[in-house]
Amino acid sequence: MTQRYAVILAAGQGTRMKSKLYKVLHPVMGRPMIQHVIDQLQPTELDSLITIVGFGAEQVAEQIGDQSACVIQNEQLGTAHAVQQAEQLLKEKSGTTLVVCGDTPLITSDTYRALITTHEANGAKATVLTTEMPDPTGYGRVVRNASGDVERIVEHKDATDDEKLIKEINTGTYCFDNEALWEALQDVQNDNAQGEYYLPDVIEILKHRSEKVTAYLTPNADETLGVNDRAALAEAEKIMKNRINRNHMKNGVGIIDPDHTYISPDVMIEADAVIHPGTIIRGQSVIHAHAEIGPHTEIIDCVVDEATVIAHSVAKHSRIGKRVQIGPYAHIRPEADIANDAKVGNFVEIKKATIGEKSKVSHLSYIGDAHVGSRVNVGCGTITVNYDGKNKYLTTIEDDAFIGCNSNLIAPVTVGKGAYVAAGSTINKHVPDEALAIARQKQANKEGYAAKIKNRQKD
Ligand code: UD1
Ligand code: CA
Repeated sequence: MTQRYAVILAAGQGTRMKSKLYKVLHPVMGRPMIQHVIDQLQPTELDSLITIVGFGAEQVAEQIGDQSACVIQNEQLGTAHAVQQAEQLLKEKSGTTLVVCGDTPLITSDTYRALITTHEANGAKATVLTTEMPDPTGYGRVVRNASGDVERIVEHKDATDDEKLIKEINTGTYCFDNEALWEALQDVQNDNAQGEYYLPDVIEILKHRSEKVTAYLTPNADETLGVNDRAALAEAEKIMKNRINRNHMKNGVGIIDPDHTYISPDVMIEADAVIHPGTIIRGQSVIHAHAEIGPHTEIIDCVVDEATVIAHSVAKHSRIGKRVQIGPYAHIRPEADIANDAKVGNFVEIKKATIGEKSKVSHLSYIGDAHVGSRVNVGCGTITVNYDGKNKYLTTIEDDAFIGCNSNLIAPVTVGKGAYVAAGSTINKHVPDEALAIARQKQANKEGYAAKIKNRQKD
């Protein structure tokens, strides 16, 4: 089989982004652009992958890790110059070399594969991935001759008015015969509007040498967006978001308003879950069947089990069982573990706490660093007082306990099985099983005292 290599061009600073962050590290749906490119190249079965990074781009190299070899391009003299940095690693080899840009995060592995297959089947020396764009502004245009063959590519800034009318653009993605590539690169000059060594010039150079040059025109123009500025980044986000949402809907997930639902690429959602508008689901979250998430909910790295309902809430790094009800306006912070049939109501914050089956924390409570058993009722306004300014302490509330409203549980403390805590109590001692703890001042009524106050106020 033909050996296959790929070179990702990622050394450009991305001046048009006006950002300190390297362009290829800007995220699309929460994942750096360069990572999308690597992910989509992965199924193309490459024998070697090389990424060209800029001088001082440690963060880019860090993101790439051991997924690709990295070569530094000290000065950004153009895309042809960038490819040349890989010459030492590739020039002795024969096979197909795919060159892709690090700023085209939407191209899919299917398209890469189709390009490679077309290139190899044609026995071409170069095949450029092109598409037709309704608005081709900014892209290199594909110039074809009278018989429809690709002649050359002209950059927008170098194009004549007539050439600017061409709708077929260079996506910045190519397949080359490896040996022909290194030879042709030697002839690339920088006498153009930008004073750069343009990789697309290789097409014309090979053509002049009477080598076979073809194009693979993809109908999926929205995959080929090149992200040069923030507006294009937002456009990429929109396209990726819709692609992800369409996939989930195809798999049976209900998405009420796909335009306002943001699901990151790694999220798994089972059929018959329903996602309401304004919802963001990120990280490695898993949403099981019949769960209902949203509206206006953010879930990050959570497992949400079957038939659980979470509305107007935020949940992070937690596990939420079956048929749980959360919200509106709940905050589930990291390491919460909420068991089946529990309820976490409005204005409740749960942090690093287990909430047992059928337990209820229905209103205005803070439960942090706690073990709450099953069938516990935590009354409105209950606070686990977990922090003394230096250390955090554990509160344990055992099965079937009942915590009256507006109680403070000063940790470390345990409320035993089936015990009651009277409303308004501040508990700092162990409450035995089945006991009632009252820890509040006794009420004193002063008969007729109201008149005294009113008289005083007349003066
Ligand atoms: C490039 C193409 C253009 C095509 C478009 C598709 C050239 C000259 N032009 O234009 O025909 O329509 O992509 O999106 O190739 N890079 C380096 N080192 C450099 C210069 C660039 O690594 O010295 C990298 C950039 O990081 C980027 C990629 O190459 O990932 C493309 O460079 P960019 O400046 O974005 O080229 P475009 O103007 O978009
Ligand atoms: Ca670009």
